[in-house]
Amino acid sequence: MTNPRPTPTMTGPNENDFCLALLQRMTLEEKIGQMVQADLHWNEDIEALLRAGRLGSLFTITDPEVINRYQRIAVEESRLGIPLIIGNDTIHGHRTIFPIPLALSCAWDAGLVARVAEAIASETAAAGTSWIFGPMVDICRDPRWGRIAEGAGEDAFLGSEMAAAWVQGFQQGRVPGGRKVAACVKHYGGYGGSEAGKDYNSVDMSDRRLREEYLPPYKAAVRSGCLSLMTAFNDLNGIPASANPFLLQTVLRQEWGFDGLVVSDYDSIGELILHGFANDHREAARKSALAGVEMDMMGNAYHYHLAGLVESGEVPMALIDQAVLHILCIKKDLGLFEDPYVDPAHLQDTLRHPGLLSLALEAAEKSVVLLKNEDHLLPLQPEGKTIALIGPLGEAREDVLGSWRFDGRADETPTLLESLRAALPQSSQLTFTRGCEIEGGEADIAAAVQAASEADIVLLALGESSAMSGEAHCRAHLGLPGHQQALAEAVTAVGKPVIAILFAGRPLVIPWLAGHVPAILLAWQGGSLGAQALANILLGKANPSAKLTASFPRAEGQIPVFYAHKSTGRPFDSSGTLQFNQAHKSGYLDESNLPLYPFGYGLSYTRFEYTDLAVETPEIAPDGTLVVSARIANRGSVFGEEIVQCYVRDLFASVTRPVKQLKAYQKVALQPDEEIRLTFRIPAASLAFYGIEMQPVVEPGGFHVWIGPNSQEGMQGEFAIRA
Ligand code: GLC
Repeated sequence: MTNPRPTPTMTGPNENDFCLALLQRMTLEEKIGQMVQADLHWNEDIEALLRAGRLGSLFTITDPEVINRYQRIAVEESRLGIPLIIGNDTIHGHRTIFPIPLALSCAWDAGLVARVAEAIASETAAAGTSWIFGPMVDICRDPRWGRIAEGAGEDAFLGSEMAAAWVQGFQQGRVPGGRKVAACVKHYGGYGGSEAGKDYNSVDMSDRRLREEYLPPYKAAVRSGCLSLMTAFNDLNGIPASANPFLLQTVLRQEWGFDGLVVSDYDSIGELILHGFANDHREAARKSALAGVEMDMMGNAYHYHLAGLVESGEVPMALIDQAVLHILCIKKDLGLFEDPYVDPAHLQDTLRHPGLLSLALEAAEKSVVLLKNEDHLLPLQPEGKTIALIGPLGEAREDVLGSWRFDGRADETPTLLESLRAALPQSSQLTFTRGCEIEGGEADIAAAVQAASEADIVLLALGESSAMSGEAHCRAHLGLPGHQQALAEAVTAVGKPVIAILFAGRPLVIPWLAGHVPAILLAWQGGSLGAQALANILLGKANPSAKLTASFPRAEGQIPVFYAHKSTGRPFDSSGTLQFNQAHKSGYLDESNLPLYPFGYGLSYTRFEYTDLAVETPEIAPDGTLVVSARIANRGSVFGEEIVQCYVRDLFASVTRPVKQLKAYQKVALQPDEEIRLTFRIPAASLAFYGIEMQPVVEPGGFHVWIGPNSQEGMQGEFAIRA
């Protein structure tokens, strides 16, 4: 172990000298204390541990007065006065809740994500948190997994863009009172690949898939200067991620040069025992420490066993010193030594500040995906009409906030019913009928049918509760829960125009809705202003522009279904024909291969026309740049934003390659009849992949390129990389 190297910090070298000097004054017990993190449920005397310098971090405390109380003990009543770093899961909001990250990723807008992250950091820091346990960047192609809600969907390229934006917004945003916040990219690594979509389950994949499809967003976060990283619960190819030298040393430290802090997930070190990877806590502590986990979140392993492991020589002191230096440097970097206490006055100025609320509304409007809009049923023409809002999500509050709603409060969250009442003109009439519960309970479908028969237009507010996704909340059946499907069928049978509004933390399996309801809005879980955003979209005050970042399966049996799949040696003809009449092809007898709604899909109230694809560089050098352009026009009657996507396919290579890969996108805003020629410049280096030797290579050969509105449609061209 070389001399401990300080964390790359936002501060200068003399701060690192400060940390080195402090490290040299610390006892082994005080060093290990810095490597232990707890919440207030820990079965120990927290205050006594703080006075003894045996606890370095606390989490899940929202009250600044409580934070200050514990901080005062650490700073003023311990021998060295090392401040605590307070962490929290404000991954999509503290008190002002923004759309769940999966929803926000559908805006395809890194600038918006960075602004949201900065806003979250301002509230979070004002409440005394200096460490946000986010962004969650786990790639996921299995909507059975409840935590798909927390990430940016299925694609490594888009997920990497979002990861970088979250880190920059959290760490470089302006925060009242000058406080800084450290981000913590999680859950490293490959957690979203959990088998069978069950949380905490094993992940087993090739190094090539891991490196090309699951690791890039963590790497993007590290490249963006993320100050910390959280290890995952899962085992990866047989080695638990929280004790995995390949992940934590070979890739993270040696290849990526990460010099920040590595924290475990909640007792994920202790869980090595249940993995059958350690026979007791002492063994678990040894394996995780040697692999490079530097702080034990809410576990007993380091607290009880690390000192003995150092004294026995099984864990080198140099490794402890490196870990503690990373912890001290982050605390120094965040200004905690100079200014350890939070000023509650900032909190009142910051919480639910009008600027935060207007950003939450903008983010929610840009996250809603228009999946279907037959006969331009939307936006509503409500004047003089009776509108029947039907369904349990019509009066949802908590279920609009999402699974990590932290300090978001239901009583501060308007329902869709309230938002519509406020937005509809006097001349229209709005009724509400619950019809059934989200799941279980009694249903009064007859009342809903009656309400529909008395209305001109029906809004069906359906979907999941926020407790049906998120951590440890996985589903094997992804249709509408409870009596909702029966409600939808009965109400639709009345024959009035129906608009379905789906609240969910994941892609749902909704083939019946897609086939029988003329308009469908995917609301996701839009946060504090989610309902108001929906009202604005329903009434045309905002034009939906979001596009899916996770494919919608037609059936659970298709999972994993994602756009960047391989061809196979017997590909079915994906020109829309069902492959039933294609014998001996890679497909199903009873279902299409295609998703119900593909990655990159989303509609607008206007119509965009794609013409005139031009591959301006039909042949490029291995270190060259592909230049391809197309004309995009707004051929509708309202202003709109369009996410124009550019995909490529490597037609043949030393290993099989996906049939499509997103390599660039641009969001354009066009008035009616306005048009623009969009040019994409794609470096050949971005077409590299792990070749037969498992090294990144750019291979010569032919490629297809598409510019289009989603991963299934677009104008196709070709180019080649010359040898
Ligand atoms: C949880 C989650 C992790 C979170 C941590 C602290 O189990 O896996 O995302 O940051 O514990 O709450």
